[in-house]
Amino acid sequence: MVAKEFAFEMAASSIRFGAGSTRECGADLAEMGVKRVVVFTDPGLVRLPPVVNALESLEQNGVAFRLFDRVRVEPSSDSVQQAIEFAGAEPFDAVVAVGGGSTIDTAKIANLYNCWPADFLDYVNQPVGKGKPVPGPVKPLIAIPTTAGTGSETTGVAIFDYKPLKAKTGIAHRRLKPMLGIVDPENTRTLPPAVAASSGLDVLCHAVESYTAIPYTERPRPERPVLRPAYQGSNPISDLWSLEALRLCAAFIRRAVADPSDDEARRSMLLASSYAGIGFGNAGVHLPHGMSYPVSGLVREWRAAGYHSDHALVPHGISVILNAPAVFRFTASADPARHLEAARVLGANVDRASAEDAGRILADQLIRIMRDLSMPNGLGALGYTSSDIPALVEGTLPQHRVTKLAPRAAGPEELARLFEDSLKIW
Ligand SMILES: NC(=O)c1ccc[n+]([C@@H]2O[C@H](COP(=O)([O-])OP(=O)(O)OC[C@H]3O[C@@H](n4cnc5c(N)ncnc54)[C@H](O)[C@@H]3O)[C@@H](O)[C@H]2O)c1
Repeated sequence: MVAKEFAFEMAASSIRFGAGSTRECGADLAEMGVKRVVVFTDPGLVRLPPVVNALESLEQNGVAFRLFDRVRVEPSSDSVQQAIEFAGAEPFDAVVAVGGGSTIDTAKIANLYNCWPADFLDYVNQPVGKGKPVPGPVKPLIAIPTTAGTGSETTGVAIFDYKPLKAKTGIAHRRLKPMLGIVDPENTRTLPPAVAASSGLDVLCHAVESYTAIPYTERPRPERPVLRPAYQGSNPISDLWSLEALRLCAAFIRRAVADPSDDEARRSMLLASSYAGIGFGNAGVHLPHGMSYPVSGLVREWRAAGYHSDHALVPHGISVILNAPAVFRFTASADPARHLEAARVLGANVDRASAEDAGRILADQLIRIMRDLSMPNGLGALGYTSSDIPALVEGTLPQHRVTKLAPRAAGPEELARLFEDSLKIW
């Protein structure tokens, strides 16, 4: 019999939170003796205040920089290769990422392969890649998020679309964690409402999935502590961060989307994003994220409002939330109390709820929020039909890193049913 896990470990980046703190990044680097950095951002952000302020701060502190402003929104295996090559063209001492998850993840990958060159698949999650641990420290990365958001500033995770698989996968290792996340609420002021909605729903799903993931004690015990994965299952410390993130989402997601000048709502959603990052960065996510990876990878023509891109894309948060109601109806029987607690924190009345109703109540509460935020009504609204389900299932099955954390196991038949239920949601 396989021995069960007995310990969990919390790891997160240092976080500095404050309006205007972006302007401190140059002084941070200068004090570390850093002379040359590579700055990453995407084409839609390059002329906006978050990037302008970060670059000014570097100049004022005598830190030389090279700017890569071609990050692909929703990065792919090809686009991250370009970033790796750009960074490696000249020596650098540190990396700065100013942008959403696409930018921060691209910067993590470019830093990794320049510090520890390897075949591309060596560090990529198993079973797609070899899942080799990062052999040693990477160069310092300062991550300055401009979405609220992925929480990537707190985690050792980087996600990209792996073309041969037609689904996303990633690299996950604690050594990829940024040295510092500068979390500056001024940086989300220009966020288009559609991006605020999608990235905010990503925060919400990080929180619910990490809170409902299998308990860490249900995973097999690793042979050596270094083999303990970053995503360990729900645990008492992640729970605190995830539930508080959920409370903030319930109170502020609608306001943050409706009015970008609502400072309290923007600030609270950015905090929620980092809180959820600390929670899920150690507990993990499960089926809504695992199922989202082929939804993104198989996109045909759908284009999202508010996204600067020359290619069809399903924004990450949308690809996740559309699967969430069906998933939670399915997983609730494994732990009704946790599903009801998530629903309660999100605003549902659970006073008289029975355990059998837990999944429906949580799903209905999510649907209310999705409708308030004008989400598409299911995968069908993005152009998927029943004939796509075999490919969607095939793209989900290799996502072990997350699917194994689901509180209820889902094989090919269950996944097919979950996708079917997600084609039209209301
Ligand atoms: N590393 C992790 O732990 C993790 C977690 C969740 C998601 N992800 C990944 O992150 C990516 C999604 O990142 P995201 O949701 O943060 O969005 P994003 O980085 O893809 O950006 C989305 C769009 O918003 C624009 N934008 C961003 N900030 C802006 C601002 N302040 N003002 C104006 N426009 C702005 C960008 O130019 C882009 O067009 C996906 O690839 C997803 O898989 C990573």
